[in-house]
Amino acid sequence: MSVGEQPVGTGRIEIDAAGKAVAPGFIDAHTHDDRALLSDPAMACKVSQGVTTVITGNCGISLAPIRRAERPPAPLDLLSRSASSFFERFADYLDALASAPAAVNSVAQVGHSTLRVAHLANLERPATAGEIRRMRADLERSLNAGAAGLSTGLFYPPAQAASIDEVAELASGLVRFGGFHTTHMRDEGDRVHDSLAESFKIGRRAGVPVVISHHKCSGSANFGRSTETLAMLDTARASQTVGFDVYPYSAGSTSLAAGRRLGADRTTISWSEPHPEFAGRDLDSVAAELSLSVDETVAALSPAGGIFYAMDETDVQRIVSHPAAIIGSDGLPHDTHPHPRLWGTFPRVLGRYSRELGLFRIEDAVAKMTSRSATTFGIRDRGLLQTGNYADLVIFDPESVIDEATYADPQRQATGIELVVVNGTVVWQDRRSTGARPGRPLRPTR
Ligand code: ZN
Ligand code: CU
Repeated sequence: MSVGEQPVGTGRIEIDAAGKAVAPGFIDAHTHDDRALLSDPAMACKVSQGVTTVITGNCGISLAPIRRAERPPAPLDLLSRSASSFFERFADYLDALASAPAAVNSVAQVGHSTLRVAHLANLERPATAGEIRRMRADLERSLNAGAAGLSTGLFYPPAQAASIDEVAELASGLVRFGGFHTTHMRDEGDRVHDSLAESFKIGRRAGVPVVISHHKCSGSANFGRSTETLAMLDTARASQTVGFDVYPYSAGSTSLAAGRRLGADRTTISWSEPHPEFAGRDLDSVAAELSLSVDETVAALSPAGGIFYAMDETDVQRIVSHPAAIIGSDGLPHDTHPHPRLWGTFPRVLGRYSRELGLFRIEDAVAKMTSRSATTFGIRDRGLLQTGNYADLVIFDPESVIDEATYADPQRQATGIELVVVNGTVVWQDRRSTGARPGRPLRPTR
């Protein structure tokens, strides 16, 4: 694109954006859109918010490289419940994206849990030296094919037994490729301090940039601790490359599992395979209706997902406001009754946190979704409106932009996103998709 006071010549399309904000297209720093890009390429949940690039493969789970005969274990099933959706080689996944493009660009990571499920005979122990060697070879093949990073989900059963050595050894495979490491830490509640320390240590040992995923302090016992965790992040940032993404909500969402409460005072069912009729219902009230304990109810509904009301809004606002924060939705696109972050994250930061609450200027809000994310993930020539960059952009109305998705009605389109352009092509206009699919997998340039 070219940027200037007076346009040179005439455009193929001319848009009068007087009174509106023109910004670089938003980068969703944390998604689980790996399969949605293929199964729902219009990606309305994201382009309707002004998103033009999504980072996939988070929380340790990716669609490749793995060959499956049966349904994958949770949380891999958040991406797909069917074995046939997974790809044996990362190159095959990227080829599928390139040959059936989506409306948005994507930056794909390899999931550590995916590697573990593919290579470990027993997920309940640290990987052996031979298993680490095979996982690392698969990781390097994937990075060669165009994967951009490695994510972990040490919180989840397939990776809980992984040692720091195992992760650091894999992460050091990123160095040669200039890749980054993201982590859904082992613990975001009572042991959040230890988990941050572990994540920093992995980054230092491997010599790679680390991004803490969906940073939060979970459970009422930990409310207010974001002062402490952000101070830890500031200290670490003085001596190594560390970042963090965050979504602007005080509830999280993931699979339901026995004993998994996440310190929440209540939980909404977001999907259930055997009982889809309970999606959107309160877990305790369903338990009462079925005359079962909560754990029995979870067992009866599983496989299933939930929305956990487990955070303090003051912590959320403090984390989002931190000058280093980048915005990631963590939306779950295949849920029956998804968390509203899937459709609302970006307009909510702009309209609610910036305009209404005045936590930061609109320019700072935009930086958290564009240039800072591009720098974090090494996305070249995007994230800034500048001559020579790709034309990924969004026109929005700073006076009216706001999220409409709520916990009760989570799939409502945001207000105030007027036009979205990806790689020079309009993908969203007049509150609907244009049908264009100019997105591409962004293979990192090294
Ligand atoms: Zn996660
Ligand atoms: Cu996630």
